[in-house]
Amino acid sequence: MTSSSQKPRIFSGIQPTADSFHIGNLLGALREWVKLQETHDSFFCVVDQHAITIDQDPEILRKRTLVSFAQLLAVGLDPKKCTVFAQSQVAAHSQLSWVLQCQTGFGEASRMTQFKDKSSKAGNDRSTVGLFTYPILQAADILLYQANGVPVGEDQRQHLELTRDLAQRFNSKFGETFVVPEVLVVKETSRIVDLQDPSAKMSKSSPSGCVFLLDENKTAEKKIKSAVTDSDAVVRFDELNKPGVSNLLALQKAINNTSIESLESEYSGRGYGDLKKETFEVVLSVIEPIRTRVNQLLTDPAELESLMNKGAQKARDAAEPTLNLVYDRIGFPANPQG
Ligand code: TRP
Repeated sequence: MTSSSQKPRIFSGIQPTADSFHIGNLLGALREWVKLQETHDSFFCVVDQHAITIDQDPEILRKRTLVSFAQLLAVGLDPKKCTVFAQSQVAAHSQLSWVLQCQTGFGEASRMTQFKDKSSKAGNDRSTVGLFTYPILQAADILLYQANGVPVGEDQRQHLELTRDLAQRFNSKFGETFVVPEVLVVKETSRIVDLQDPSAKMSKSSPSGCVFLLDENKTAEKKIKSAVTDSDAVVRFDELNKPGVSNLLALQKAINNTSIESLESEYSGRGYGDLKKETFEVVLSVIEPIRTRVNQLLTDPAELESLMNKGAQKARDAAEPTLNLVYDRIGFPANPQG
């Protein structure tokens, strides 16, 4: 046994559907992943197969997958400590997904609220079957690695419940096969909202209210300086009545690990101009080094691709025993890899 195999295993994934991750991704999920790699046998996956459940331009998708991988390294995931890889490079994800699709009820899949939301926005005829089976591919991602835990945001809870149900169903039908994973909901220490519309969570779909990790300094500065505030000019944390100002305080708190009380006293008698300027400086202190590191990694794409291939090989090795066991349990001929 290697030392890593004695640590509990975790799996998580992120979609390569934007040119860059944003500060909300960093403070919500990615920073947590960087900590978890120290204590867990960790697998982090750029889920490019999930990305194609909606239309993608092929060259843009390929670029985003590589840049996403680079960003994961740049924020501090270390391929020596954890496994970072792209989903499409490990065939076992789709292979297990098919088997699990055949264990999933049509009604059960139809109850997934994220599918209902996304398909109602796209219109029924324009939604793909892939969007419908998205959560089953997600279950395959997790179960393939026998993960004990899955760090995700609250919005993924229903997909994780489906994953657990599928694991339990398979185990009771075919014999112990899968670890039933725990949901590790990453508690948001601070809720980061849209700079232009503080009633919405910060999201890549609203670029002017969203600071991307790869934003140039000037761009980030402009976004933060034009953040929506209010007219009473007192720097105080009050998410209900002062959501814009509270968001700027929350950003500083999350990045610098300070308390709201100390920030409030620091800003007593000072105005929004100072708050915005300093929030920008604090944000810059985290995004600028990430952007520099990503650009450095991108100067040698061959080396970056080789790191990605190595991650995929580690993932394939970890996935293979599970797929073999599943194929055996389900009644396929021995030696599935040919
Ligand atoms: N659905 C997840 C999201 O949108 C991404 C994802 C895909 C994932 N596979 C996963 C998360 C497996 C955790 C585990 O955030």
